[in-house]
Amino acid sequence: HRHLTGIDGLQPHEIAFLLDEAENWVEANRTHAKSAAPLAGLTQINAFFENSTRTLLSFEIAGKRLGADVVNMHAAQSSVKKGETLIDTAQTLNAMRADVIVIRHMSSGAVKMIADKVDCAVLNAGDGRHEHPTQALLDALTIRRRRGTIANQRVVICGDVLHSRVARSNILSLTALAAEVRVCAPSTLMPKAIERMGVTAFTDFDAALEGADVVMMLRLQNERMDGALVPSPREYRLRYGLTEQRLARAVPGAMVMHPGPMNRGVEIDSAVADGPQSAITEQVAMGVAVRMACLDVLTRRARGVEAW
Ligand code: CP
Repeated sequence: HRHLTGIDGLQPHEIAFLLDEAENWVEANRTHAKSAAPLAGLTQINAFFENSTRTLLSFEIAGKRLGADVVNMHAAQSSVKKGETLIDTAQTLNAMRADVIVIRHMSSGAVKMIADKVDCAVLNAGDGRHEHPTQALLDALTIRRRRGTIANQRVVICGDVLHSRVARSNILSLTALAAEVRVCAPSTLMPKAIERMGVTAFTDFDAALEGADVVMMLRLQNERMDGALVPSPREYRLRYGLTEQRLARAVPGAMVMHPGPMNRGVEIDSAVADGPQSAITEQVAMGVAVRMACLDVLTRRARGVEAW
């Protein structure tokens, strides 16, 4: 693969390969081992057309730990504000001879469109409702490290599944790695025919939680609602909020995940988010290792190293 535009199209062994590569970087980061700086002399451009804290910072840290020259382009301060098109922006970045471009964009498919226009590797940092592949990889790595395996783990993904690129990428990766995936959402926030993705759909969160090994909560994405009928925050918490009482329905010690940013007191209570079963800060830590692995693997071809 020249680019990482999504989990879709990756074989299970390729997903596992990226997780194994990330595992090496977890160890190097933990021991502060000086890495060999495989990306030294390469230019990485992070082009973010939509807000981000975790993804942007971890891609920047990952690139710097690998020795790349990292440049951030924030759309709010760029000529995008003067009406420059996405294609013209992509061709401008390409003309600066970037070696790898990381893109976040509010439109589904925008990253693929740019990938088709440029000469270097492109990594998707989240495009609209489509995919967020490095989030799914860091989630899979966090599960594999805590639970020992992904196969046969019962994973419940609950929240605004309809608008969630995180849910979509996670469903693709977790089903590929043989997890049992349940999705749960109010009917207005559940995609039609979601079962075709190999998951079981629930509108009753209590039922979905029975025997869950992993509970992954999603944020209500108010910026993408387009008039969808949504319960009030209070109603939402009553039916879909992860409270301590509700978490007791899952297996003892079940792990709790959230990609962030969280709406505390809506989809997740602070007692759970900050509790002993929470893996939320671990997810953030795994994000750096996963992004190091993806940047390393995707630039191998350009560096004359055997690619994956
Ligand atoms: N999980 C995630 O993508 O967070 P950011 O929007 O802060 O990057």
